[in-house]
Amino acid sequence: MTPDLMEEGTVTLNRAKGVSTSAGESGGREASYGRLVEPGQLDVAHGTILYLDDISVSFDGFKALNKLSLNIAVGEMRCIIGPNGAGKTTMMDVITGKTRPDVGKAFFGSTIDLLSMRENEIAQAGIGRKFQKPTVFEQLSVFENLELALKADRRALSSIFFKLDSAQLDRIAEMLKLIHLKDHAQRTAGLLSHGQKQWLEIGMLLMQDPKLLLLDEPVAGMTDEETERTAELFLSLEGAHSLVVVEHDMKFINELTTRGATADKKKVTVLHEGSVLAEGTLAQVQANDKVVEVYLGR
Ligand SMILES: Nc1ncnc2c1ncn2[C@@H]1O[C@H](COP(=O)(O)OP(=O)(O)OP(=O)(O)O)[C@@H](O)[C@H]1O
Ligand SMILES: [Mg+2]
Repeated sequence: MTPDLMEEGTVTLNRAKGVSTSAGESGGREASYGRLVEPGQLDVAHGTILYLDDISVSFDGFKALNKLSLNIAVGEMRCIIGPNGAGKTTMMDVITGKTRPDVGKAFFGSTIDLLSMRENEIAQAGIGRKFQKPTVFEQLSVFENLELALKADRRALSSIFFKLDSAQLDRIAEMLKLIHLKDHAQRTAGLLSHGQKQWLEIGMLLMQDPKLLLLDEPVAGMTDEETERTAELFLSLEGAHSLVVVEHDMKFINELTTRGATADKKKVTVLHEGSVLAEGTLAQVQANDKVVEVYLGR
């Protein structure tokens, strides 16, 4: 969930409970999320949407990322695999502004310097992130969750005067279909299955129309059928969004990389000890001895 969406949800829930959220009540949070800065246009003229160069992050001397360099092309679906502790989540933390690297560069397109931006500015610039654990507003309905996500898009209308117009209602209806929750629109989100909550959160991210979507272990805990449907969903997003998918589920990675329009070109990156160990098609990395040794096993 994006910081703005989190804030929007808190206000809505408090309103429902009759609690006021006047200035100062949420202290630092409001102070840090309230200021909106126009972060500049996304420039992808060079075909690269994400550019990470020589990034290192250390925690008490331990290098979680070690000179990591990685480029993602516009419209690309990139799968990232690697053993526990390889630095996959830390990489997402750096891209989204949650963790600051010791050194390195991180650009969104060729002009937006991610390392000089706050988390909410990065989200507003068009980078959406899905954490491993689903974060939806459990007390609200599926529909209301999607509605909130629309409202949290500050480029749209001011949420105080926000009323859904027919185009927006259509968009929510389309999203409900895409995330397989058409028949659950009025259901309280807390009552959904784990997999359905994951889809709802993905839908909420998509409502904000991110240019780049980061998904950390999106199918963890899903049933086989839910996993299969999630692969379909991601494949349907190909091209319109750039996707970075971190997963341990190799069957899912196989689905994503061997199907779809650009199947034979899709790259998989293997992270190990904070840097790129191998990059290539799934078949190439699966045949790489080092990858087999540290991750895939013989
Ligand atoms: N805030 C932190 N403080 C200290 N160490 C951390 C912190 N965050 C991550 N680490 C360490 O950095 C390393 C990389 O962690 P990270 O979560 O990025 O790995 P990962 O590739 O996402 O692993 P997994 O597949 O288990 O999710 C790990 O050794 C982890 O313990
Ligand atoms: Mg992780």
